[in-house]
Amino acid sequence: MADGERLICTADALLEAGKALRFEVEYFGQAAPAFVVRFDGGVYGYLNRCSHVAMELDWREGEVFDAEGRDLICSTHGAIYAADSGKCLGGPCGKTPLVSLRMAERDGKVYFEGINDG
Ligand code: FES
Repeated sequence: MADGERLICTADALLEAGKALRFEVEYFGQAAPAFVVRFDGGVYGYLNRCSHVAMELDWREGEVFDAEGRDLICSTHGAIYAADSGKCLGGPCGKTPLVSLRMAERDGKVYFEGINDG
C-alpha cells in the first residue's frame, strides 16, 4: 500500500451501477462526505457535493444513480453527471463537474488515493 492510501471497502461491496459506498475525506482541512461507485467495471469516487449547491447527491443513502443506472443524479434539483468522469451532462450544474477522487482497485480491495483537485 502506497503512502496516503486508505482502504475503503472490498471490491465486491460495489455492484455495477449499484449503491454508492459513502466515506469521508479531508478537503481543504475539513471533513467532507464522499462516495465511490462501480460503473462499467471500474471504480469512481467523488466528493458527495453537487456543483450546483453544496448538497449531497443521494436521494436515499448511497442512491446516486438515475433509474437507468447510467448517470449520477443529484436528488435536489436533478443535475446529471457522468459516472466515469463527474462531468456535468445536464441540469443546473452547468459546466462544473463533481470533484473527483483518485481511487484504485487491486487484490479485491478498493482504495482512496487522493483528491484530484484538492
Ligand atoms: S443541489 Fe444538486 S442540482 Fe441543485
